[in-house]
Amino acid sequence: MTDFKIEKREQLKEKPKGEALGFGRFFTDYMFSMDYTEDKGWHDASIVPYQNIEMSPASQSIHYGQSVFEGLKAYRTAEGVQLFRPDQNFKRINQSLARLDMPQIDEALALEGLKELVNLEADWVPTEPGQSLYIRPFVFATEPFLGVRPANQYKFLIILSPVGAYYGDGQLQPTKIYVEDEYVRAVRGGVGFAKVAGNYAASLLAQSKAAKLGYDQVLWLDGVEQKYVEEVGSMNIFFVYGNKLVTPALNGSILPGITRQSILELGQSLGYEVEERKISVDEVFDDAKSGKITEIFGSGTAVVVSPVGEIKYKEEVAVINEYQTGDVTNKLYTAYTAIQNGTAEDKFGWTVKVSE
Ligand code: COI
Repeated sequence: MTDFKIEKREQLKEKPKGEALGFGRFFTDYMFSMDYTEDKGWHDASIVPYQNIEMSPASQSIHYGQSVFEGLKAYRTAEGVQLFRPDQNFKRINQSLARLDMPQIDEALALEGLKELVNLEADWVPTEPGQSLYIRPFVFATEPFLGVRPANQYKFLIILSPVGAYYGDGQLQPTKIYVEDEYVRAVRGGVGFAKVAGNYAASLLAQSKAAKLGYDQVLWLDGVEQKYVEEVGSMNIFFVYGNKLVTPALNGSILPGITRQSILELGQSLGYEVEERKISVDEVFDDAKSGKITEIFGSGTAVVVSPVGEIKYKEEVAVINEYQTGDVTNKLYTAYTAIQNGTAEDKFGWTVKVSE
């Protein structure tokens, strides 16, 4: 194991007690940090107190958006604390970094740093069902320069946040989804497949529009024909046809979700047929109305497996499974979280222990 320098803080923070954790409101005592300069490459990998960071108002990430991130979780099990497929997140962050012409990180070193950080912060991993420690690794340009070109200074940080359900009403409460027909999230050759900050900024106006109409999330259509279903932004989307799980095929503008991939593998092992293909919004509405689509759910690290109770597209509304969480969604959620929480055997080799 790499020995990282640890800068201890004088006083530890009060941990949230009793209050609902929600998502992303509380932060732990420490963070992992390393810096990049052209001459030294990545250096000064260390664990430091969670604190505000000082940076120039001319930092390039603020102006031109060289900023990428990841999301994963640590879970408390009977034996200790474990991570879920962290290697996949560091692999994906490098794909996002490459797309924004930012320097690659050493995936093995980042994983070692993460393990050491989570080990140090093990007391922050919540214990209640449905709760976990959300992990946010991210990289952004810090070079003070206003010319438009790739920066030559960057910072990599990992911060930790104890969380409960992502949506306000709790896990497995069906959400209402608005199919966006005006704005698009991503286009061919763009950055849709990468986890870059700008994708999320670009989604906010549509999200506010949906919220005003009483919807929780936006379902994005493809940026070329605005005909095919892509993803929700905070999650990938699955349509359940009885015993078959259908999700849009990855096409360069959809985020390759780690939960998406895991649900495909888990679903198959539970005996479901799985299909990745193009699926048009018209097909979704026809099949939802005729009852061929029996359930819809989203998948993502933050939302886990999240049932959809209603979708709206232009003037049409389709209610899914009478606003109830369906059996398939329930079964996948239960099997998936059991692996994450260590109450079921992990025959896929997805979990990584960080402390006993
Ligand atoms: C995640 O699921 O980790 C995400 O990054 C989605 C969202 C919270 C931005």
